[in-house]
Amino acid sequence: MPTNELVKCCQQAALWIKEQLPPEWTPTVGIILGSAMGSVAERMDVCKTLKYGDIPGFLVTTNASHAGKMYFGVLGGKKTCILSGRFHHYEGYSYQELSIPVRVLSLIGVKTLIVTNAAGGVNADYRVGDIMVISDHIKLTGDSPMQGPNAELFGPRFFDVSNLYTPALRELAHRAAASLNPPVALKKGVYFFMTGPQFETPAEIRAIRALGGDAVGMSTVTETLTAAHASMDVLGFSLITNMAAGMLDQPLSDEEVGVAARAASGTMGALIEKVLEDL
Ligand code: HPA
Repeated sequence: MPTNELVKCCQQAALWIKEQLPPEWTPTVGIILGSAMGSVAERMDVCKTLKYGDIPGFLVTTNASHAGKMYFGVLGGKKTCILSGRFHHYEGYSYQELSIPVRVLSLIGVKTLIVTNAAGGVNADYRVGDIMVISDHIKLTGDSPMQGPNAELFGPRFFDVSNLYTPALRELAHRAAASLNPPVALKKGVYFFMTGPQFETPAEIRAIRALGGDAVGMSTVTETLTAAHASMDVLGFSLITNMAAGMLDQPLSDEEVGVAARAASGTMGALIEKVLEDL
């Protein structure tokens, strides 16, 4: 989709969403939930729910474990918009189209983006159920979501990503996790993006480890790059739902990912709520 059309889609979606919200009601925090983590939204005091399919110019989710809904309400005392259901390159969306949800959030007022994802553990010290604060990412495949004529409305042509995952938010997340009851010790590491939808081969996982990846997944990076382009603060959590290919003597399955994600979604919700309280 050409940049000017894409910008029009974002503006159309943002305008329509604003019309559905109470007057002067502006969310400052956006949350994008990973697979099977939809229950995080249950913690929020919801004032409005919108279906992606009803939003003009927005994208439509094709993934069964993603609800495809936008919730507006107050979480941890902050006006928040939760996107329950995200979009992936493997569904057929271009990297540029994947910028739409975050750009819409930016146009409706969001300044801080929190993303969660399910990921395979590449670091041998990780265990299923661990939550990793994303300190940085590696994306070596495919285009940038900012490829093509620059959308000046959002940010500059060239932009710095040396602190894409906001250091102060990462520190805040570690403190928030330690103060939960029971306390949670978060990992910190590098998220390695792979396009999917196939899981990786064991040889790819060895390569990812050698390159500095701690966890591997098929999402998130287009969203966080889009947020960085639009000068948003960013915090990312990877839930380790499985050990990556070849690390255990068993095949990987989507079912295993869903079971682990559902099991940890309560902790993820408590953590995000505490982060927002402390923000
Ligand atoms: N690889 C890629 N994406 C994933 C994985 C994995 O092992 N687990 C959950 N999402």
